[in-house]
Amino acid sequence: MNAPHASRYHEVYARWQSDPAGFWAEAAEAIEWIKPPQQIFDADAGVYGRWFPDATCNTCFNALDRHVRDGRGAQPALIYDSPVTGAKASYSYAEMLDEVATLAAVLQDFGVGKGDRVIIYMPMIPEAVFAMLACARLGAVHSVVFGGFAAKELATRIDDAAPKLILTATCGIEPTRVVEYKPLLDGALALATHKPDTCLVLQRPQADASMHVSRDKNWRSLVAAAKTAGRKAGCVEVAATDPLYILYTSGTTGRPKGVVRDNGGHLVALKWTMENLYGVKPGEVFFTASDVGWVVGHSYIVYAPLLHGATSVLYEGKPVGTPDPGAFWRVIAEHKVVALFTAPTAFRAIRKEDPQARHLAGHDLSQFRALFLAGERADPDTLKWAEEVLRVPVIDHWWQTETGSCIVGNPLGLGLLPVKHGSPTVPMPGYAVECLNEAGKPVPPGTMGAIVIKLPLPPACLPTLWQDDQRFREAYLTAFPGYYNSSDAGYIDADGYVFIMGRTDDIINVAGHRLSTGGMEEVLASHPAVAECAVVGIRDALKGEQPCGFVVLKAGVSEGPEQIERELVALVRERIGPVAAFKLALTVNRLPKTRSGKILRATMKKIADGEDYAMPATIDDPAVLDEIGAALKGRGIG
Ligand code: COA
Ligand code: AMP
Repeated sequence: MNAPHASRYHEVYARWQSDPAGFWAEAAEAIEWIKPPQQIFDADAGVYGRWFPDATCNTCFNALDRHVRDGRGAQPALIYDSPVTGAKASYSYAEMLDEVATLAAVLQDFGVGKGDRVIIYMPMIPEAVFAMLACARLGAVHSVVFGGFAAKELATRIDDAAPKLILTATCGIEPTRVVEYKPLLDGALALATHKPDTCLVLQRPQADASMHVSRDKNWRSLVAAAKTAGRKAGCVEVAATDPLYILYTSGTTGRPKGVVRDNGGHLVALKWTMENLYGVKPGEVFFTASDVGWVVGHSYIVYAPLLHGATSVLYEGKPVGTPDPGAFWRVIAEHKVVALFTAPTAFRAIRKEDPQARHLAGHDLSQFRALFLAGERADPDTLKWAEEVLRVPVIDHWWQTETGSCIVGNPLGLGLLPVKHGSPTVPMPGYAVECLNEAGKPVPPGTMGAIVIKLPLPPACLPTLWQDDQRFREAYLTAFPGYYNSSDAGYIDADGYVFIMGRTDDIINVAGHRLSTGGMEEVLASHPAVAECAVVGIRDALKGEQPCGFVVLKAGVSEGPEQIERELVALVRERIGPVAAFKLALTVNRLPKTRSGKILRATMKKIADGEDYAMPATIDDPAVLDEIGAALKGRGIG
């Protein structure tokens, strides 16, 4: 597809390159500060510098109060659409402000204030959004944990964030089952060393929960009482550099990384993207089909649309099966959505069930302007299919939890550049993206290498990891001095288009969900029958990748391999959660290794994916690869 109009992209990118501080100072004018920034960037502060070091602000004020004050009070801020429960609701900006300010007053009653951490373990319901904004209002630091994680993962996050309070609901709803959250939370609190004083529990009609007498409080009755008393909390002034939230994401071990987001940089960068990247105007409806537990949900279900005065759709359902592959088209038509943002997996799922897109019939999509995809590589096939059936631009864009918004994209608001399928297009202002070889030298156009970002990172990117500057440096800044290492491999072509081909570490992407194979290996290795193991991500037509665990059993294990394999699948589900989608454990006699004992995971992946591979020169015993191939063939893989 070609660009319909001349794009302003090159001019705007060049403006940023020539004067980054001037560019961000101008972008910062769209934010209502308490104390506007005098200094835009302090290169000497923090690990690699800090944005807007002398400014103060409140994120919730910019998301709600200012819009109500400026006449947007009656406009819908949030549309809740839940095919899994049959519920629908709409909250105007004025109603949202009421809900958020009241909940914030309740949180204050439990002593929550500036800098305190609050864990939010909630499904896709409006109260999850209220909770995030209520924390922002108080200057408290929220950490949302995705509902598909198990008790142990939640416990790890509780111990790292040390929250004063936890907000939860009695359940989440998956199409095939009700996921009771309270037993998971109780399990997590039993495992965690840190014990928060209070848990606020929202009773949903689909599940009840037993309450711990002194610790657990009834959310609804406390909010109702605060409403009756007319109690509301005001916005607390915070430094632009104060943390807004911590979002844990998979690292290379079972210990997740606590990505920190600041207030000021996040406000400025996200607001800029709404108009310039997504091409959305205040008052229009934006639909991000993700989850508030992921960065895409933080940025584009909650913060950016509200900062922009747009209306955001909160969708509690799936792309297919709730009730059919026309679910997204129904939501787009019914709520007059102008742009949809989701993961390519969602479109693979829709295409699989409805290849002719018959479910589009009868839905008026005349106001729908663009589809944005991110979270995993958008395969050209799926992308072209979406273009053909929707007849609007389909825009792949690349980002990471760490960056909080898009690194490489095609800016609809500035005017689209011609699309090259398979490339998310070009770096956004703020990002100097380069491709380096292992020695840290730039590679020629079209040559694969490590995709890196020249420091400093722009506003909205993580300033550090929660209370761990050292881990931040080691994980991101040490491999290529002067650069942020994205841990993605790819290439940049002669036109400056960036192609992202896959991770260089042991992170895999399953249905747009970022998972650590190292974390899964830790779980498998903890089984008493397992001598050694390796988990690799193997190709999956729907989810992009799926984890496959190879295990070598200890001598003398009495249970049969099938029994152990079943136990291992259950163990990963119990320890990491259903989101790990770990369904494939394979018992083998040996793992392929180099003579120095390094497991050849990349070769195992190639065998599973049916790709050609070069025999590693350092392999200890080539026959092991045949055994791996045979084990996979036995399951119809490879
Ligand atoms: N709470 C509890 N469990 C959850 C959950 C949640 N919030 N989200 C997912 N799960 C469970 C699922 O029920 C499933 O469990 P199962 O093994 O019992 O079937 C498991 O975790 C894996 O979920 P998922 O990988 O999402 O697979 P799925 O088969 O349920 O759905 C798709 C497949 C394609 C429909 C779904 O993955 C999808 O909508 N993907 C879009 C991805 C996305 O939004 N990514 C966010 C980043 S932009
Ligand atoms: P997350 O932090 O969960 O957003 O996952 C980030 C990772 O997802 C990146 O490092 C990439 O590996 C992958 N990813 C996200 N968006 C894209 C994209 N548009 N193209 C290719 N890979 C992507």
